[in-house]
Amino acid sequence: HNSPSPLQLPLVTSWPRRPPDVVIIGVKKGGTRALLEMLKLHPRVVSPQGEVHFYDKYFERGTDWYLSRMPSASPDLLIIEKTPSYFVTPDAPLRMIGVNPDTRVVLVVRDPVTRLVSDFVQLSKGEGDFETFVLSPDGEVSIDSRPVWTGLYASHLLKWTDVFPSKQMHVVNGDRLALDPVAEIVPLQQFLELKPLINEDTFYFNSTKGFFCWHSKYDKCLGEGKGRPHPEVRNETLVKLKEYYSEPNRAFFRILTSLDIYKSHTFNWSY
Ligand code: A3P
Repeated sequence: HNSPSPLQLPLVTSWPRRPPDVVIIGVKKGGTRALLEMLKLHPRVVSPQGEVHFYDKYFERGTDWYLSRMPSASPDLLIIEKTPSYFVTPDAPLRMIGVNPDTRVVLVVRDPVTRLVSDFVQLSKGEGDFETFVLSPDGEVSIDSRPVWTGLYASHLLKWTDVFPSKQMHVVNGDRLALDPVAEIVPLQQFLELKPLINEDTFYFNSTKGFFCWHSKYDKCLGEGKGRPHPEVRNETLVKLKEYYSEPNRAFFRILTSLDIYKSHTFNWSY
């Protein structure tokens, strides 16, 4: 009766740390949190706490620091990190491929005008008005404003497609993710070679929240900071912004088509 009961046998509690298998690189306000939380409903997906910001802010801390932020995960699990500012960090792609050449890169984008309003709502915390946020004193779209140039998706994406093979890249439609999450999650599970365990039964529309929520041990709905009401924007400002983004949007669609890294329905950015 001296043999240990199975409960006393040592458990393997720590696996060697490794860099993430998948990184959600952005775009900020594209639906990055929703996308990660939805993927985490899959039993094979784990993620580090919060946003790690290694490839933009903390790269000089070194790879060991980065690895120490990763969960201990058996090799059959997918470690997914998300830091939305990677997408607009020109050095991030080369740094990332240097750390893990097999990284699969996921980008979630949303109509750049809606994205800009969402960024404004987050950054302004209810103060100031949208026009002063996005327009220069002469009334033109302010190209020096970070929130404005974040929406120039084509130029950011080229930095990634120069470095990563297109078979390692996947683009998610963030507008659609909010309206019909399954439509975006199903092709993403396929890309990640995950069994299609996330499906129509996973989500339900929560009319109080105004968004899809889900049944899980995590939040059923995302917190108050996600899915905030947007202010009315003057029509003439909208016209200026749509005009400003129209050619960059077309360039973005051309890249997606030529590399075949977007498998979903056409983007419904109606301009
Ligand atoms: P808004 O708050 O402007 O509506 P990110 O996590 O990248 O910051 O993106 C936030 C955006 O995710 C939200 O922007 C919201 O539109 C979108 N989103 C998509 N699906 C959502 C969901 N199920 N619940 C809450 N927000 C969701």
